[in-house]
Amino acid sequence: ALEGDAERGQQAAGTCVACHQADGMGMNNPQGESWPRLAGLPAEYIAKQLHDIKEGRRESATMMAFANMLDDQQIADVAVYYAEMEPWPELPTAYRAADPADEGGWLAERGDWAEDKMIPACSQCHGPNGQGVGATFPPLAGQHAGYIVSQLEAWRDGKRHNDPNDLMVGIAERLDEEQVAMIADYYATL
Ligand code: HEM
Ligand code: HEM
Repeated sequence: ALEGDAERGQQAAGTCVACHQADGMGMNNPQGESWPRLAGLPAEYIAKQLHDIKEGRRESATMMAFANMLDDQQIADVAVYYAEMEPWPELPTAYRAADPADEGGWLAERGDWAEDKMIPACSQCHGPNGQGVGATFPPLAGQHAGYIVSQLEAWRDGKRHNDPNDLMVGIAERLDEEQVAMIADYYATL
Protein backbone atom coordinates (compact mmCIF):
# COMPACT_ATOMS: atom_id res chain seq x y z
CA ALA A 1 0.00 0.00 0.00
CA LEU A 2 0.98 3.59 -0.57
CA GLU A 3 2.31 5.37 2.54
CA GLY A 4 1.05 8.83 1.73
CA ASP A 5 -0.26 11.66 3.87
CA ALA A 6 -3.04 13.86 2.48
CA GLU A 7 -2.08 16.92 4.56
CA ARG A 8 1.50 16.83 3.35
CA GLY A 9 0.09 16.16 -0.11
CA GLN A 10 -1.87 19.38 -0.03
CA GLN A 11 1.35 21.29 0.70
CA ALA A 12 3.19 19.57 -2.13
CA ALA A 13 0.29 20.22 -4.52
CA GLY A 14 0.60 23.99 -4.26
CA THR A 15 1.73 24.33 -7.88
CA CYS A 16 -0.72 21.78 -9.28
CA VAL A 17 -3.84 23.84 -8.66
CA ALA A 18 -2.96 26.17 -11.53
CA CYS A 19 -4.01 23.42 -13.92
CA HIS A 20 -5.71 20.63 -11.98
CA GLN A 21 -7.66 23.23 -9.96
CA ALA A 22 -8.17 23.47 -6.21
CA ASP A 23 -11.00 20.93 -6.36
CA GLY A 24 -8.90 18.49 -8.40
CA MET A 25 -11.41 18.57 -11.26
CA GLY A 26 -9.02 19.94 -13.88
CA MET A 27 -10.47 21.59 -16.95
CA ASN A 28 -11.51 20.77 -20.47
CA ASN A 29 -9.93 22.97 -23.09
CA PRO A 30 -11.11 22.46 -26.66
CA GLN A 31 -8.44 24.91 -27.92
CA GLY A 32 -5.36 23.47 -26.25
CA GLU A 33 -4.18 21.04 -23.59
CA SER A 34 -6.91 19.77 -21.31
CA TRP A 35 -6.03 19.21 -17.67
CA PRO A 36 -7.25 15.87 -16.36
CA ARG A 37 -9.47 15.44 -13.35
CA LEU A 38 -7.38 13.94 -10.53
CA ALA A 39 -10.10 14.02 -7.84
CA GLY A 40 -11.06 10.51 -6.84
CA LEU A 41 -8.57 8.68 -9.08
CA PRO A 42 -7.02 5.71 -7.23
CA ALA A 43 -3.90 6.77 -5.30
CA GLU A 44 -1.76 3.96 -6.74
CA TYR A 45 -2.78 4.96 -10.26
CA ILE A 46 -1.86 8.63 -9.65
CA ALA A 47 1.49 7.65 -8.13
CA LYS A 48 2.25 5.33 -11.05
CA GLN A 49 1.54 8.08 -13.58
CA LEU A 50 3.83 10.55 -11.80
CA HIS A 51 6.66 8.00 -11.77
CA ASP A 52 5.98 7.16 -15.42
CA ILE A 53 6.11 10.84 -16.38
CA LYS A 54 9.35 11.39 -14.41
CA GLU A 55 10.97 8.38 -16.03
CA GLY A 56 9.82 9.23 -19.55
CA ARG A 57 7.44 6.33 -20.09
CA ARG A 58 4.78 8.94 -20.50
CA GLU A 59 5.95 11.96 -22.47
CA SER A 60 4.38 15.26 -21.47
CA ALA A 61 6.39 18.45 -21.80
CA THR A 62 3.92 20.18 -19.50
CA MET A 63 3.89 17.62 -16.69
CA MET A 64 7.57 16.63 -16.77
CA ALA A 65 8.67 19.78 -14.92
CA PHE A 66 6.09 19.33 -12.18
CA ALA A 67 6.57 15.60 -11.72
CA ASN A 68 10.33 16.21 -11.46
CA MET A 69 9.82 18.48 -8.47
CA LEU A 70 8.36 15.62 -6.44
CA ASP A 71 10.37 12.95 -4.63
CA ASP A 72 8.92 9.49 -3.92
CA GLN A 73 7.38 10.53 -0.62
CA GLN A 74 5.81 13.63 -2.12
CA ILE A 75 4.40 11.54 -4.96
CA ALA A 76 2.75 9.24 -2.43
CA ASP A 77 1.44 12.25 -0.51
CA VAL A 78 -0.13 14.07 -3.49
CA ALA A 79 -1.56 10.76 -4.73
CA VAL A 80 -3.40 10.20 -1.44
CA TYR A 81 -4.46 13.86 -1.35
CA TYR A 82 -6.12 13.74 -4.78
CA ALA A 83 -7.54 10.24 -4.32
CA GLU A 84 -9.46 11.41 -1.25
CA MET A 85 -11.15 14.29 -3.10
CA GLU A 86 -14.75 13.81 -4.21
CA PRO A 87 -15.24 14.21 -7.93
CA TRP A 88 -18.23 16.24 -9.03
CA PRO A 89 -20.79 16.14 -10.38
CA GLU A 90 -21.49 12.83 -8.72
CA LEU A 91 -20.52 9.94 -10.97
CA PRO A 92 -23.06 7.23 -11.79
CA THR A 93 -23.00 4.42 -9.23
CA ALA A 94 -25.86 2.28 -10.53
CA TYR A 95 -25.29 0.56 -13.86
CA ARG A 96 -26.99 2.27 -16.77
CA ALA A 97 -27.43 0.07 -19.81
CA ALA A 98 -26.15 1.65 -23.01
CA ASP A 99 -28.74 3.01 -25.41
CA PRO A 100 -28.25 1.43 -28.87
CA ALA A 101 -29.14 4.81 -30.38
CA ASP A 102 -26.15 6.39 -28.59
CA GLU A 103 -23.23 5.32 -30.77
CA GLY A 104 -20.53 6.45 -28.34
CA GLY A 105 -22.14 4.68 -25.40
CA TRP A 106 -22.73 1.54 -27.45
CA LEU A 107 -19.09 1.46 -28.54
CA ALA A 108 -17.92 1.96 -24.93
CA GLU A 109 -20.13 -0.79 -23.55
CA ARG A 110 -20.11 -3.28 -26.47
CA GLY A 111 -17.02 -2.55 -28.56
CA ASP A 112 -16.84 -2.71 -32.34
CA TRP A 113 -16.39 -6.22 -33.71
CA ALA A 114 -16.27 -5.38 -37.40
CA GLU A 115 -13.48 -7.42 -39.00
CA ASP A 116 -11.19 -4.43 -39.58
CA LYS A 117 -11.79 -3.05 -36.07
CA MET A 118 -11.91 -5.71 -33.34
CA ILE A 119 -12.22 -3.15 -30.58
CA PRO A 120 -13.12 -4.59 -27.18
CA ALA A 121 -15.64 -2.81 -25.03
CA CYS A 122 -13.92 -0.19 -22.89
CA SER A 123 -16.15 -1.34 -20.03
CA GLN A 124 -14.34 -4.70 -20.07
CA CYS A 125 -11.39 -3.05 -18.38
CA HIS A 126 -12.59 0.38 -17.26
CA GLY A 127 -15.75 -1.04 -15.73
CA PRO A 128 -19.42 -0.53 -16.46
CA ASN A 129 -20.12 3.17 -17.03
CA GLY A 130 -16.37 3.78 -16.92
CA GLN A 131 -16.13 3.75 -13.15
CA GLY A 132 -12.69 2.17 -13.15
CA VAL A 133 -11.52 -1.18 -11.80
CA GLY A 134 -8.98 -1.24 -8.99
CA ALA A 135 -5.90 0.91 -9.35
CA THR A 136 -4.91 -0.59 -12.71
CA PHE A 137 -7.83 0.53 -14.85
CA PRO A 138 -8.55 4.23 -14.30
CA PRO A 139 -12.07 5.60 -14.29
CA LEU A 140 -13.08 7.37 -17.49
CA ALA A 141 -16.47 8.65 -16.31
CA GLY A 142 -16.25 12.35 -15.58
CA GLN A 143 -12.85 12.68 -17.25
CA HIS A 144 -12.54 15.59 -19.68
CA ALA A 145 -13.24 14.90 -23.34
CA GLY A 146 -10.19 16.84 -24.54
CA TYR A 147 -7.96 14.85 -22.21
CA ILE A 148 -9.40 11.48 -23.26
CA VAL A 149 -8.80 12.39 -26.91
CA SER A 150 -5.22 13.50 -26.12
CA GLN A 151 -4.39 10.22 -24.39
CA LEU A 152 -5.75 8.09 -27.23
CA GLU A 153 -3.56 10.16 -29.58
CA ALA A 154 -0.57 9.81 -27.24
CA TRP A 155 -0.80 6.01 -27.33
CA ARG A 156 -1.22 6.01 -31.08
CA ASP A 157 1.76 8.36 -31.53
CA GLY A 158 3.98 6.40 -29.11
CA LYS A 159 4.16 9.21 -26.56
CA ARG A 160 2.48 7.17 -23.86
CA HIS A 161 4.13 3.79 -23.52
CA ASN A 162 3.74 3.30 -19.79
CA ASP A 163 1.36 0.36 -19.79
CA PRO A 164 3.41 -2.80 -19.13
CA ASN A 165 0.91 -4.93 -21.03
CA ASP A 166 0.32 -2.43 -23.85
CA LEU A 167 -3.40 -2.92 -23.52
CA MET A 168 -4.29 0.53 -24.84
CA VAL A 169 -1.98 0.82 -27.87
CA GLY A 170 -3.81 -1.51 -30.24
CA ILE A 171 -7.16 -0.10 -29.20
CA ALA A 172 -6.04 3.49 -29.77
CA GLU A 173 -4.65 2.54 -33.18
CA ARG A 174 -7.90 0.96 -34.33
CA LEU A 175 -10.30 3.70 -33.21
CA ASP A 176 -11.03 6.22 -35.98
CA GLU A 177 -11.30 9.97 -35.33
CA GLU A 178 -15.08 9.89 -35.19
CA GLN A 179 -15.09 7.04 -32.68
CA VAL A 180 -12.49 8.80 -30.50
CA ALA A 181 -14.63 11.95 -30.43
CA MET A 182 -17.88 10.17 -29.61
CA ILE A 183 -16.37 7.95 -26.92
CA ALA A 184 -14.65 10.92 -25.25
CA ASP A 185 -17.93 12.81 -25.24
CA TYR A 186 -19.79 9.80 -23.84
CA TYR A 187 -17.45 9.39 -20.85
CA ALA A 188 -17.08 13.13 -20.21
CA THR A 189 -20.83 13.59 -19.86
CA LEU A 190 -21.79 10.33 -18.14
C1 HEM B 1 -1.48 14.95 -16.14
C2 HEM B 1 -0.47 15.36 -11.39
C3 HEM B 1 0.85 20.00 -12.11
C4 HEM B 1 -0.96 19.78 -16.59
C5 HEM B 1 -1.32 14.65 -14.80
C6 HEM B 1 -1.50 13.34 -14.20
C7 HEM B 1 -1.21 13.45 -12.87
C8 HEM B 1 -0.84 14.84 -12.61
C9 HEM B 1 -1.28 12.36 -11.82
C10 HEM B 1 -1.96 12.08 -14.91
C11 HEM B 1 -3.48 11.98 -14.79
C12 HEM B 1 -4.08 10.73 -15.38
O1 HEM B 1 -3.35 9.84 -15.83
O2 HEM B 1 -5.32 10.63 -15.37
C13 HEM B 1 0.04 16.64 -11.17
C14 HEM B 1 0.63 17.10 -9.93
C15 HEM B 1 1.04 18.40 -10.15
C16 HEM B 1 0.66 18.76 -11.50
C17 HEM B 1 0.74 16.25 -8.66
C18 HEM B 1 1.80 19.32 -9.21
C19 HEM B 1 2.94 18.86 -8.61
C20 HEM B 1 0.38 20.36 -13.36
C21 HEM B 1 0.44 21.70 -13.89
C22 HEM B 1 -0.06 21.64 -15.18
C23 HEM B 1 -0.44 20.25 -15.42
C24 HEM B 1 0.92 22.94 -13.13
C25 HEM B 1 -0.23 22.75 -16.20
C26 HEM B 1 0.78 23.65 -16.41
C27 HEM B 1 -1.18 18.45 -16.89
C28 HEM B 1 -1.48 17.93 -18.22
C29 HEM B 1 -1.60 16.52 -18.08
C30 HEM B 1 -1.42 16.23 -16.67
C31 HEM B 1 -1.60 18.73 -19.51
C32 HEM B 1 -1.83 15.52 -19.20
C33 HEM B 1 -0.45 15.06 -19.66
C34 HEM B 1 -0.47 14.11 -20.82
O3 HEM B 1 -1.03 14.47 -21.87
O4 HEM B 1 0.05 12.99 -20.68
N1 HEM B 1 -0.92 15.55 -13.82
N2 HEM B 1 0.07 17.66 -12.09
N3 HEM B 1 -0.16 19.52 -14.29
N4 HEM B 1 -1.15 17.40 -15.99
FE1 HEM B 1 -0.53 17.52 -14.06
C1 HEM C 1 -6.04 3.88 -19.60
C2 HEM C 1 -9.53 4.83 -22.89
C3 HEM C 1 -10.36 0.06 -23.43
C4 HEM C 1 -6.80 -0.91 -20.26
C5 HEM C 1 -6.93 4.55 -20.43
C6 HEM C 1 -7.04 5.99 -20.56
C7 HEM C 1 -7.99 6.24 -21.50
C8 HEM C 1 -8.52 4.98 -21.96
C9 HEM C 1 -8.45 7.62 -21.99
C10 HEM C 1 -6.20 7.01 -19.81
C11 HEM C 1 -6.92 7.47 -18.57
C12 HEM C 1 -6.13 8.49 -17.79
O1 HEM C 1 -5.06 8.89 -18.22
O2 HEM C 1 -6.61 8.90 -16.73
C13 HEM C 1 -10.07 3.61 -23.31
C14 HEM C 1 -11.13 3.48 -24.31
C15 HEM C 1 -11.35 2.14 -24.48
C16 HEM C 1 -10.44 1.44 -23.57
C17 HEM C 1 -11.81 4.65 -25.00
C18 HEM C 1 -12.31 1.43 -25.43
C19 HEM C 1 -12.39 1.80 -26.75
C20 HEM C 1 -9.50 -0.62 -22.60
C21 HEM C 1 -9.44 -2.06 -22.49
C22 HEM C 1 -8.42 -2.33 -21.60
C23 HEM C 1 -7.85 -1.06 -21.16
C24 HEM C 1 -10.37 -3.04 -23.21
C25 HEM C 1 -7.91 -3.68 -21.11
C26 HEM C 1 -7.73 -4.73 -21.99
C27 HEM C 1 -6.27 0.30 -19.82
C28 HEM C 1 -5.19 0.43 -18.85
C29 HEM C 1 -4.97 1.82 -18.66
C30 HEM C 1 -5.93 2.50 -19.51
C31 HEM C 1 -4.42 -0.72 -18.15
C32 HEM C 1 -3.95 2.47 -17.74
C33 HEM C 1 -2.56 2.44 -18.35
C34 HEM C 1 -1.56 3.11 -17.42
O3 HEM C 1 -1.07 2.45 -16.50
O4 HEM C 1 -1.29 4.29 -17.59
N1 HEM C 1 -7.85 3.95 -21.30
N2 HEM C 1 -9.69 2.38 -22.88
N3 HEM C 1 -8.55 -0.04 -21.78
N4 HEM C 1 -6.70 1.56 -20.19
FE1 HEM C 1 -8.17 1.95 -21.55
